[in-house]
Amino acid sequence: MDTTWILFATPIFLCTLILYYRNRLSLKLKSKHGNQLPLGSLGWPFIGETIDFVSCAYTDRPESFMTKRRTMYGKVFKSHIFGSPTIVSTDADVNKFILQSDAKVFVPSYPKSLMKLMGESSILLINGTLQRRIHGLIGAFFKSQQLKIQITTDMEKYVQESMANWKEDQPIYIQDETKKIAFHVLVKALISLDPGEEMEFLIKHFKEFISGLMSLPISLPGTKLYQSLQAKKKMAKLVRKTIEARRNKGVTEVPKDVVDVLLNDTSEKLTDDLIADNIIDMMIPGEDSVPILMTLATKYLSECPDALQQLTEENIKIKKLKDQLEEPLCWSDYLSLPFTQKIITETLRMGNIINGVMRKALKDVEIKGYIIPQGWCVFANFRSVHLDEKNYDCPYQFNPWRWQEKDMNLNSNNFSPFGGGQRLCPGIDLARLEASIYLHHLVTQFRSYNPIMHAFLCSLEEFIPASFRLLIKVKKHNAMTIRHLKYNV
Ligand code: HEM
Repeated sequence: MDTTWILFATPIFLCTLILYYRNRLSLKLKSKHGNQLPLGSLGWPFIGETIDFVSCAYTDRPESFMTKRRTMYGKVFKSHIFGSPTIVSTDADVNKFILQSDAKVFVPSYPKSLMKLMGESSILLINGTLQRRIHGLIGAFFKSQQLKIQITTDMEKYVQESMANWKEDQPIYIQDETKKIAFHVLVKALISLDPGEEMEFLIKHFKEFISGLMSLPISLPGTKLYQSLQAKKKMAKLVRKTIEARRNKGVTEVPKDVVDVLLNDTSEKLTDDLIADNIIDMMIPGEDSVPILMTLATKYLSECPDALQQLTEENIKIKKLKDQLEEPLCWSDYLSLPFTQKIITETLRMGNIINGVMRKALKDVEIKGYIIPQGWCVFANFRSVHLDEKNYDCPYQFNPWRWQEKDMNLNSNNFSPFGGGQRLCPGIDLARLEASIYLHHLVTQFRSYNPIMHAFLCSLEEFIPASFRLLIKVKKHNAMTIRHLKYNV
């Protein structure tokens, strides 16, 4: 009898507790912020709306979480994801405000396991003067002509080496190939490491390092996070060895890589540990974002023969011209191929390699009549803006020609694949340059390619800040058959 009573009463008690908790929270927020808090639901206690968020992220339309709520509540709504009350913005102006705000208003906010793995001195986590200093140093080096020349030489070398092994009618895993290429190119730019034992060591441990980024925040022997931290330690040791050797050698006037750039800084705030941590964090785009950009461009082009043809014609034309002049293509040739750049821009818009960025509000912030309460997270979602039919006609259609229309502007609030403000990605030019070189060789070396299987792109990073873009999960079944038919150039 007693047991029956307990079984009957427990669910009622729990439901009452949950309702009480939700009502209290809503009343508290309402009394503090009036009607300015965006509409939306905080979901269940503790888990909030996380389950719905994650299940949408695993579909081929991760934005469905946003779209559903946007229809119900408007472009900015409240939710509760990953243990934190969150304001989600799918509004381009609100996103811009968030990106432009400084560290007195918003700071980056990441899940605990990511924070631990990145280390507290990572550029992705630090704020204020130090972040601006490192960003400025890296940004200037990445923009330099000298680095672009080096990237072009390296990229051509690795692309050609890779493509030389693409046999006719044999499946090629584009994602794997582009990862290998981009990682080698970036590691060279970061620490001047060439292929060999140390590079293999880095590749091995880097894979272990990134595999723990989406793990439980428990670092005990045997856990994923622990293994990842160990892998990072091993990599950091190797990078520190390079740093020490350079310090002993003395300052170089013309930096040849990012290690030199950071060592040349005179502020003395850049310790060896800080430099090593940041070098490892910057390997992430080489392993993840840039290869995804190349893979997605390959996929979208295979679905749009007109675009592939125009791209091929543009690239064959410049190749013929350069062959006649007996000159190789230089970095500025690649970056000034107009249609190639439109292909990359459209891939960035549709592919949403980084879905958005997350921040935490350090004080109550009012934007466009909405309040973001102090201590809440805010998720500036780029994907919803890039796929909004009010901003782009037929947004799910790969249409590179849209970028030749007058009102289409790369600097508009409606286009932010590389973020913006003080944290605007310093690797924009490098990413575009690497993708242009890859596309040039793809279409000039091969006449056609047929996808055997489409990549299933599972955007896990929907709930993770942009900088942790390595968490995009791409299944590696993106096989391509390349018919090796040479053009008569
Ligand atoms: C398609 C390729 C890429 C995409 C879509 C991309 C996107 C982004 C985005 C959206 C941010 C802003 C993060 C935030 O606001 O929290 C960012 C930051 C950053 N990116 Fe990229 N990125 C790419 C390639 C690269 C490359 C090749 C590098 C070179 C190492 C790079 C280095 C960085 C760094 C260091 C930051 C942090 C900047 C800071 O917080 O000051 N990215 N990236």
